[in-house]
Amino acid sequence: MEITELRRLVVGIDTQVPVRDGRRIPYTNFDNAASTPAIKPVIEEVQNFLPWYASVHRGDGYKSQVSTALYDRAHAIIGDFFHYDPAHHLVVLGKNATEALNKAAYRIPIPNGKAVLTTLMEHHSNDLPWRYRAPVRFAPLTPDGELDLDAVEKMLRSGAISLLTVCGASNVTGIINPLKKLAELAHIHGALFVVDAAQLAPHAPLYLSRADNNWNGPDLIAISGHKLYAPFGTGALIGPKDLFRYGIPEYLGGGTVVSVSTRDVVFAEPPEREEAGSPNVLGALALAAALKWLKEQGMDNLYQQEHKLTAYTYRQLQEIPGCTVYGPPPEKVPRVGVLTFNLDGLPHGLVAAALSHEAGIGVRHGCFCARPYVHHLLGLTAEDHRRLAADVQHRRFDRLPGMVRASFGFYNTYEEVDYFIAALKYLTESRTQLLKEYVVDPQSGHYQFKPQFRSNASSIAVK
Ligand SMILES: Cc1ncc(COP(=O)(O)O)c(C=O)c1O
Repeated sequence: MEITELRRLVVGIDTQVPVRDGRRIPYTNFDNAASTPAIKPVIEEVQNFLPWYASVHRGDGYKSQVSTALYDRAHAIIGDFFHYDPAHHLVVLGKNATEALNKAAYRIPIPNGKAVLTTLMEHHSNDLPWRYRAPVRFAPLTPDGELDLDAVEKMLRSGAISLLTVCGASNVTGIINPLKKLAELAHIHGALFVVDAAQLAPHAPLYLSRADNNWNGPDLIAISGHKLYAPFGTGALIGPKDLFRYGIPEYLGGGTVVSVSTRDVVFAEPPEREEAGSPNVLGALALAAALKWLKEQGMDNLYQQEHKLTAYTYRQLQEIPGCTVYGPPPEKVPRVGVLTFNLDGLPHGLVAAALSHEAGIGVRHGCFCARPYVHHLLGLTAEDHRRLAADVQHRRFDRLPGMVRASFGFYNTYEEVDYFIAALKYLTESRTQLLKEYVVDPQSGHYQFKPQFRSNASSIAVK
């Protein structure tokens, strides 16, 4: 599909936002790593379903039967996207990737004396849930933010690790981890392999491990619908059924059981026993519709297209005087469309605020819920860490270390990147002026345009 056709499918692609000079201009959304916009096939699916909306798994009415069949089918479509084996795998639906990873950490037993091996490049959602369940080790990184594979192998070889978990792609550098190699290493050393696929699944093909076709991949993956062109509120954990057949789910109640007396409880088969309460049926159908559409486009095609745009942007960013780009070039190490950088002399929060206010461009700034990784890439010293700890203790957030992140979806264009690069050049050239015109709130770390400059409204007006 041509890019103009693809863009037409994005809900809100033409939405205009206000900028400094009072005009409204089309929004440039470079914050797709946080959340992607919904696509029209998702809206259509939801609209078509709404007249049939009824309780699932509990009613005998015709609409309930339709609802139940569609909800069950959504599980199958989601599993199929990751080449699951329905006889062996299951799809557990929940709120988001965070919930899915918490469920994995809660439900997968770590034998006494064994530890979980995660990495220093994780989103907090694939770090914190493990910390309070089992001893956790952190695999180290190279200076530019790649996983140190030799160290991973060494730690696995020690025999102390029963579960390896990594992000499929980083939400800070977009680096795609070598999942096949990591799966081989984990499996050779008898460890289960869990992948936080929140950032990888929207941008590149990803297949679960299958014994029946000798495919070595993740044993479990976690995803979030709102990063996959579906709305907020739905995520999934996909993995071996057997892991969920025994033990007590973390949430209990209606839907999880087939029989209850005051003395006995007989749990339902998974996934029902893992999806307590009335489920988010609309969210499940929306996510399934998004994945069906992505599959039709071909994840390989989308990856190639986004990869070219990412490599182009990386080169453009490097040419801006005073711009530091983090992570290796996409030609050297495969990356999804996530690029982080800083501009000399301009705080990251100010860059993000000015991109929005001056040019209508949406990006993210800060540490992106991956503080250990961002601190590593920034090369924080012991003294920096001491100052940071003191600032946090005093709730002072105006000088926290961080970066600016631009992240792409399938619909972003070279024209948008050129506009973004022009805006960044404008910011570097207007540094002194911007430092006067914007003020930071120490309690939140957010920058705002000072009201007294509102009348002096000339803006970048590149668009
Ligand atoms: C790599 C990664 N993992 C996990 C998450 C958590 O996703 P959610 O907030 O949808 O649970 C994110 C969100 O940014 C992410 O980027």
